[in-house]
This record gives sequence, C-alpha cells and structure tokens, in this order.
Amino acid sequence: MDRASALAAALAARGGPRLPAVEWPASIDSTSNRLKALARGGAPEWTVVLADVQTGGRGREGRTWASPPGGLYLSVLLRPRFEKVGLLPLAAGVAVAEAVDELGVRTELKWPNDVLASGRKLAGILSEAASGPAGVEWVALGIGVNVSQDAASLPPEMRGDLTSLVAEGAADVPVRAVASAVLARLAVWYDALRSTPSAVLSAWRSHAAAWWGSRVDVRAGETALRGRLVEVDGEGALVLELEGGERRRLLSGEVTRVRRTAGT
Ligand code: BTN
Repeated sequence: MDRASALAAALAARGGPRLPAVEWPASIDSTSNRLKALARGGAPEWTVVLADVQTGGRGREGRTWASPPGGLYLSVLLRPRFEKVGLLPLAAGVAVAEAVDELGVRTELKWPNDVLASGRKLAGILSEAASGPAGVEWVALGIGVNVSQDAASLPPEMRGDLTSLVAEGAADVPVRAVASAVLARLAVWYDALRSTPSAVLSAWRSHAAAWWGSRVDVRAGETALRGRLVEVDGEGALVLELEGGERRRLLSGEVTRVRRTAGT
C-alpha cells in the first residue's frame, strides 16, 4: 500500500471521513497552491494534498512558511454548506490542538489559530476561500505542524520562535499518524459547525492562551494597532480595546503581546 492510501486507511480506521483523493509528492511549491488548483477544477471536499518538503510554503499575512523535511505540510479542501463558515479557521485550530494533545504535548491557541507549545509556535493554519453568488464555494485549509524538523534546517531568525513535537517530548511518530489525527479531529469540529457552532467557540476559548486583558500589538495588512485584548466574539472576530477606549473587531491579523518594561 502506498503512503497516500495508508493515510486514507488509517483515517477510516479511526472512523474519520473517506478521502476521495490524496496526493503526496516528495516535494511541491505549496500544498495549498496545488489544492486550490484542484478546487477550481471541481475536486470534491476532503481532497488532500501533502508533501515532505515545500519549496514555496506560504503562511498567514503574506509570510513564508519554512518547510524542510520532518514537518507535516497538508492542505485539505472543504465545501461548507452552513452559515458559520467564519468559524472554520478557529475550528481548524481546535482540531490541530487536540490532535497534538493526543500525542502528549500541551498546547495553547493564539488567535486566530496559531498552535503554541511552551510559548513557541508548533503549528500554523492558512485558510483560503473562494466565494460565488451563493456564498463560500470552497475553503482550502493549509496546515503546517513542526514534527521533527532539525533546528539547523530552519532559518536562524526563526529558531527561537518555533518548537516541534519531538522538541516538546513527543515520540517521533510518522507524519502520517499526525496527519490522520488532525483530519479525524477536523471532521468532528467541521460537523459541529453545522450542528452546534457555539461548541466550537467554547472549545476554542478553553484552549486559548490566557492573554485576555493583556496589551497587544496587532498587525493586519498595512494596519498596526495597539490595545487590550477583550474577547473573541460569537463570529470568531477578535475584539480589541484601543488605548483611547474605542473597540475594534478584527477578522484577521497577527497578535503579539507587548512586553512589560520598567514603569509600564
Ligand atoms: C501560519 O502563518 O501560521 C500558517 C502556516 C500554514 C502553513 C501550511 S503548510 C501546508 C500549507 N501549504 C502552504 O504553503 N501553507 C500551508
């Protein structure tokens, strides 16, 4: 059995969704680029693309995603037919956090869906959608998990900010096992979005890093804001109280905690 079929079989054995197609080349520019091309061609939901290495891995907010051997690089196609599509990025974060928890590593979520362990980034999710007259047609969820990458294979400026499952003490499990755990948990939360979206928000809040009330910087495209973290609202938006007291709702962005300095 090839490894793509082995992944589909492992997922089915866990009671997960049937995967209509799995592509798993050794190297690709970006699994999400490939998946989006498949989506435009009409591929069914739960089509999955993985790769051992990405030469042009992409992150949120236009960043690159370093993708050396030893990581999970997976993109999965969904075609949501429910109202609360805006909560899908949060649901994906909960799914990845739970999959990692299963492997014995404690995680926290940083809005919208960065997965942190020991305060460092363990996994990230890039959610890209296409809409038509009837609303969202498809969502390509791109998921990157640092499994066993050698720190020396990462760009020097990233080494201090990142961690991996192996660095956090997990057994060096095959990437395929991490992929099937992530997809199985994603299926559970994808169903919950249709039936009980409030459960997704509760699960997200219970995994969230306790940064509420802290001063943060948020960068969203060209906009940079500083304020106090108030909450994540019922639509999954981040509510920030600016220094003058005005509240802003943000649908995307990168949050960093403002470090305390003497006198602040
Ligand atoms: C982030 O910035 O936190 C999101 C990172 C998402 C990386 C994954 S790896 C698989 C998929 N392919 C990509 O090019 N990006 C996503």
